[in-house]
Amino acid sequence: MRIYIKTYGCQMNERDSERVAESLRRCGHVLAENERDAEVFIVNSCSVRGKAEDKAIGKLRILIRDARRRGGRAIFGVMGCMVQRMRAEIFDLVKGLDFAVGTHRLHAVPLALEAVMAGRGPILDAAVEIGAPEDVDTHEKGKVSAFLNILLGCDRRCAYCIVPEVRGREWSRSAQFVLAEARHVAANGATEVTLLGQSVMSYGRANPVWPPGFRSPMGFSEPFPALLEAVSGVPGLRRIRFTSGHPSGCTRELCRAMSEIRPLCPHLHLPLQSGSDAILARMNRGYTAAEYRDAVARLRAAVPGIALTTDIIVGFPGETEAQFLETRSLMDEIRFDNAFIFKYSPRPGTPAAAFPDDVPEQEKLRRNHCLLEDQDRWCLDINEKLIGQTLPVLVEGRSKSNRGRWAGRTDSNKTVVFEPASATRPGDYIRAVIERVMPQTLYGRVAGNQEERLVASGI
Ligand code: SAH
Ligand code: SF4
Ligand code: F3S
Repeated sequence: MRIYIKTYGCQMNERDSERVAESLRRCGHVLAENERDAEVFIVNSCSVRGKAEDKAIGKLRILIRDARRRGGRAIFGVMGCMVQRMRAEIFDLVKGLDFAVGTHRLHAVPLALEAVMAGRGPILDAAVEIGAPEDVDTHEKGKVSAFLNILLGCDRRCAYCIVPEVRGREWSRSAQFVLAEARHVAANGATEVTLLGQSVMSYGRANPVWPPGFRSPMGFSEPFPALLEAVSGVPGLRRIRFTSGHPSGCTRELCRAMSEIRPLCPHLHLPLQSGSDAILARMNRGYTAAEYRDAVARLRAAVPGIALTTDIIVGFPGETEAQFLETRSLMDEIRFDNAFIFKYSPRPGTPAAAFPDDVPEQEKLRRNHCLLEDQDRWCLDINEKLIGQTLPVLVEGRSKSNRGRWAGRTDSNKTVVFEPASATRPGDYIRAVIERVMPQTLYGRVAGNQEERLVASGI
């Protein structure tokens, strides 16, 4: 069958889609280049906000309607977080759905498809399982950058968040499998890896990940810095990232790892959510504004110039104007390299869903715009300082907005768009001279001559 997978949600979902695509390919199916060529449509869904769910449902309904108009037979599936949250209810919301597979059962997607093809549909498979099948080799070939799951689930239980419900209890993969997977993707040609976990610094806290008696050569006693050290020893990896961080994980050891392990990129995504202690406490975030500030100070002392990005929620139940302004002023003080601002969206079954959603939609929108505008100015301030600098860039491919230009990322995770030199290929490390900047993008040209470029690529 020709299969098309549409992915919503976070990087973990992107990685899940890749795994599912590989497993389907192994069963003899092929991936369609675009929707129109497909016989099977699968939506990998996200439940984090109401809007994310509406988008996936809307997409499925349109796909099903269009396929009916065209006539002929097509199969429709949905997988991921929404299936885990809604289970059978999803079949009522989307008429004509053939299968729905939850986050713990993604390895069973080929089986669900087979059952539907054999006329045994519709299929719902949303059982909860701890752990994951160890399929280290389910990566797409030839990718420059790879995602590696290291920590599944989440035990934090932030009051607003559906993720613990849809992804289950925290469970860390054993270091041995993570390393095997890192070696596998490096052998496939990736030079950048991003280690994924909802609260990634909790790696190894809920279950043991290292064999008894293991000692980290750098003397780390915490499992996560020790993993970073081990991954940095995988031949071929030049950039290592991880996401998402939490202030409680920004320990001395983590900071030492960030400062001493060379392939670790000088960038951290460290969600703040709010600058108000009262709101942070009601969100159950587990830190105060002062503790967050301390974490930032430790990171900046260890890695001068480290790029910090964050997530913010505006309009959490009971958020007053004064509390919103505390967030605004803490953001002004910290000056993030980028921030994702979300309007609070009540999620059924979460503790915060029991609080009245009392900040009016208009007011949420105003607070959202206010921070977006601030952040654009702050981004521009930070980026303008980069004009004239020469930065190493990992080339990813053609720019999405202008196919004549190319795009890549700096080690601080900023996107650089540049005119390609004759021999530019995805996967190259070039040096780009930054010529002009926008809040979200740097524009430049490839520095120097061919020889200098090859030196930058380490060839
Ligand atoms: N595990 C990650 C976040 C996953 S969800 C972490 O803790 O860092 C990504 C972001 O979505 C969160 O950081 C939060 O800012 C936002 N988010 C989560 N639940 C939300 C909700 N109910 N309403 C609005 N935004 C939400
Ligand atoms: Fe959700 Fe909090 Fe876990 Fe992140 S740390 S996934 S926001 S519960
Ligand atoms: Fe969404 Fe699930 Fe990720 S709810 S943010 S896709 S873990």
